[in-house]
Amino acid sequence: MSTLTIASAREVFDLLREDLVAVEQELGRDAASSVSTITEIAEYLREGGGKRIRPSVLLLSARLLGYSGLSAIRLGSVVEMVHTATLVHDDIIDGADTRRGRPSANTTWGNEKCVLAGDWLYMQAFKVALEERNLRILELLIGLTQQMVEGELLQIQKLGKAVSEAEYYDLIFRKTACLFSVSMRLGAVLAGASEAQEANLAAYGRSVGLAFQIVDDVLDLTATEEVLGKPVASDLREGKATLAVIHAIDHGTARDRQTIQRVLDDRSFESVSRERIQEILSRNGSVEYAMAAADHYAEQSRQALASFPDSEFKRALLWVPDFVVAREK
Ligand code: IPE
Ligand code: IPE
Ligand code: MG
Ligand code: MG
Repeated sequence: MSTLTIASAREVFDLLREDLVAVEQELGRDAASSVSTITEIAEYLREGGGKRIRPSVLLLSARLLGYSGLSAIRLGSVVEMVHTATLVHDDIIDGADTRRGRPSANTTWGNEKCVLAGDWLYMQAFKVALEERNLRILELLIGLTQQMVEGELLQIQKLGKAVSEAEYYDLIFRKTACLFSVSMRLGAVLAGASEAQEANLAAYGRSVGLAFQIVDDVLDLTATEEVLGKPVASDLREGKATLAVIHAIDHGTARDRQTIQRVLDDRSFESVSRERIQEILSRNGSVEYAMAAADHYAEQSRQALASFPDSEFKRALLWVPDFVVAREK
């Protein structure tokens, strides 16, 4: 383990401030289409903000290895556009009406236009990436996009089912952790990393990404919509069993299992209340179990950095998993 003390949010923000301003400018340029509806939707999504965590880890990965050119800014915008495209499509699929504390794009423009805006964003991301004239970068982004689409599709196939932990982890790797891993790899590719360095950074991204989605799924069960800025208690209502729920199904009483299955079947809290589910989760220590799993992946991600020399960028990367686990939105 590194002997470095872990950075603070302020320190990381100061370190990335200029780069993140440049990513915002790049995103602004990239959001423009000759068709006004697309520009309006893309601008609305961009203005909604978001944590910008994927460009941040890409920048940290590149800078950890000494790269400081403009390609990291452009690829930061690329991974944020891929992320945004998946969110637009995800909100249509999930029928979600809020995102980033505002009405979701599908609520404002309707599903049809938003499907197309999502497609446009994917292709805009590839167009910007193509400017790098680097097949390895395109290969990573194509593999990533397929994984993410496969993840969402597998999730639909498993709706209403009490999935196993192995199935859960496969799903969250595809839909979330793969993008973190590829963001780290892209930074490494720009910096001309060795194979071993790239593999370590990819492993870091995978672990951070798994922790990220485990926490996202816990927040869906425990947070309020005011704080989270998107619907809560929605996973069960959509028929999705996430880690804490899987734990309660595996370790609860037969009655607990039936009660949870009832919500997954009904896709609503009409016959079983949300409080009843929370009581089951709390009696079985299921939220604690899921958070312990997130802590495990956070620790695993820090270990993946062990071979890199100490630097402020390494300090920042060591801080990211703490932020991911402790976040409230
Ligand atoms: C939301 O990602 C989608 C998931 C993978 C859970 P973020 O929580 O990073 O969303 P923004 O970009 O900050 O809004
Ligand atoms: C993350 O899953 C989906 C994507 C990778 C787009 P969720 O469905 O849990 O994401 P949120 O909760 O809507 O942000
Ligand atoms: Mg969703
Ligand atoms: Mg969620």
